[in-house]
Amino acid sequence: MKAIRVYSYGGPEVLSYEEITIPAPKQGEVRVRIEASGINYVDIYQRKGLYPVALPFTAGQEASGVVDAVGQGVSGLKTGDRVAYTSALGSYAEFAVVPAGRLVPVPDGISSQQAAAVMLQGMTAHYLACSTYPLKSGDTALVHSAAGGVGLLLVQIAKRRGARVIGTVSTQEKAHLAKHAGADDVILYTGAGWEKEVKQLTGGKGVHVVYDGVGAATFEKSLDCLQPRGFMVLFGQASGPVPPVDLQILNTKGGLFITRPSLIQYTATRDELLERANDLFRWMLKGELTVRIDSSFPLAKAADAQRKLESRTTMGKVLLIPRMQ
Ligand SMILES: NC(=O)c1ccc[n+]([C@@H]2O[C@H](COP(=O)([O-])OP(=O)(O)OC[C@H]3O[C@@H](n4cnc5c(N)ncnc54)[C@H](OP(=O)(O)O)[C@@H]3O)[C@@H](O)[C@H]2O)c1
Repeated sequence: MKAIRVYSYGGPEVLSYEEITIPAPKQGEVRVRIEASGINYVDIYQRKGLYPVALPFTAGQEASGVVDAVGQGVSGLKTGDRVAYTSALGSYAEFAVVPAGRLVPVPDGISSQQAAAVMLQGMTAHYLACSTYPLKSGDTALVHSAAGGVGLLLVQIAKRRGARVIGTVSTQEKAHLAKHAGADDVILYTGAGWEKEVKQLTGGKGVHVVYDGVGAATFEKSLDCLQPRGFMVLFGQASGPVPPVDLQILNTKGGLFITRPSLIQYTATRDELLERANDLFRWMLKGELTVRIDSSFPLAKAADAQRKLESRTTMGKVLLIPRMQ
């Protein structure tokens, strides 16, 4: 089979398109024939060595496809079942072996592309809005990079929970899209003073929660957007890692709370994983949640797909399609 292998940390050029042996599922594992694989920032952090992974490895953390072979001790799954997953390495490939407990069934009416597109970014938006800081009516949330993969989904889920949403983006085109997704107000945060705009939009009070996946470029000003006892959720670092913080700053800025979560902690049990995935699929089937596919690349062009996500030009999901026509 074809796969994207990584032998050393570095730029997109370290992603090597190769022929490797099709893996066999061991006890408790399932082999999936991949129909769509998601590109995510975590893949870029792993490629760069920011999140170290033992070398060499097959890249990718998210896919959907069809069960192709079932290992010993696996029940409830059979060849031909449509499945999707995230948080298992090796999805930039034609086949991947995945622990059975990470697979979720994909319902009729959800395409493989749609399923792959919401496993990582969709379940992230779900846990951020529903669990990390469970939004409710009357809350105001600031969502950075509101036209991104997580951003567009988070805006929609925050709105369905009754919150007021202020989004930030870098271009007018992205602003239009974030508004279309439901954001009440959208601010361009490429210039100075965006945190003052957030304050103005909240009558000087500040927001209840900031969802910040941008990191270095936004972190400090994000704290200034919060009302006293507000909640800072730092969940990514698209602009670079946030330097160490003196915790006293949380006191001086109003007794703030801060957390740095990851999806794996919020899909730790089978029940929690299924609940989040099934909520997303149900909302999509009812037309209440829209997942936007920005672009699709053949597997061989994984480096170009990652370059595109890093280029800050995407609006929604970037996919790899192993058997692209
Ligand atoms: N902790 C978790 O569980 C978890 C799970 C999934 C994703 N994440 C994080 O969520 C964030 C968003 O992920 P995503 O896959 O949905 O990506 P994305 O939002 O589709 O793309 C990243 C966006 O970040 C913004 N950005 C701001 N400064 C940037 C810079 N210097 N370089 C590149 N982009 C910059 C850009 O939007 P603008 O042009 O509008 O600024 C860009 O489009 C990432 O930090 C990712 O690591 C975390």
